[in-house]
Amino acid sequence: MQTGLLHFHNLLRWVILILLVISIFKAYSGWQQKKIFSASDRRIWLFTLITSHITLVVGLYQWLWGRYGMLKTSLPDGESIMKNKFFRFFWVEHPTFMILAIVMITLGYGMAKKSVPDTMKYRRTFWFFVIALLMILISVPWPFRAGIGRPWFPGM
Ligand code: HEM
Repeated sequence: MQTGLLHFHNLLRWVILILLVISIFKAYSGWQQKKIFSASDRRIWLFTLITSHITLVVGLYQWLWGRYGMLKTSLPDGESIMKNKFFRFFWVEHPTFMILAIVMITLGYGMAKKSVPDTMKYRRTFWFFVIALLMILISVPWPFRAGIGRPWFPGM
């Protein structure tokens, strides 16, 4: 189950990135072209929200009980968390930035339900989603990152 969840977490990264890019594009065109907020915008923002929350739950499980989970693994003898690059990344940096990114996505989606002018809705959500995208891009353990790199796709 552990491996399956890790693969699922890996794959969801692509789903989030694709949905976020589409959501950002829709928010930007809605804002610039002064469109009326539509059900299709709301739907794609909702899918982005749901996918990010599922990733959060799977991530929390791995953080606590995964192969390097905080409740299952100990730091190497004499090491402190902030001095060990691997554990600092997976125990602190990755979860913190990803949780903040998911908060941004949640705030962005929240605009869909606010009774504010549609242009403001699009503009604010655009910025929330752009910040979330940047946070995700810098916090993913991309394969080229020394010491913490992970495969592009599950099982590679
Ligand atoms: C947008 C949200 C997130 C994305 C896109 C994301 C992406 C990833 C990716 C691509 C990996 C590597 C998977 C692999 O080795 O095949 C990973 C690993 C991991 N993630 Fe996330 N993650 C997110 C959120 C979180 C959160 C919120 C947490 C914890 C609270 C978390 C905890 C972990 C842990 C502990 C690992 C290492 C698991 C292991 O090697 O056993 N992730 N994440």
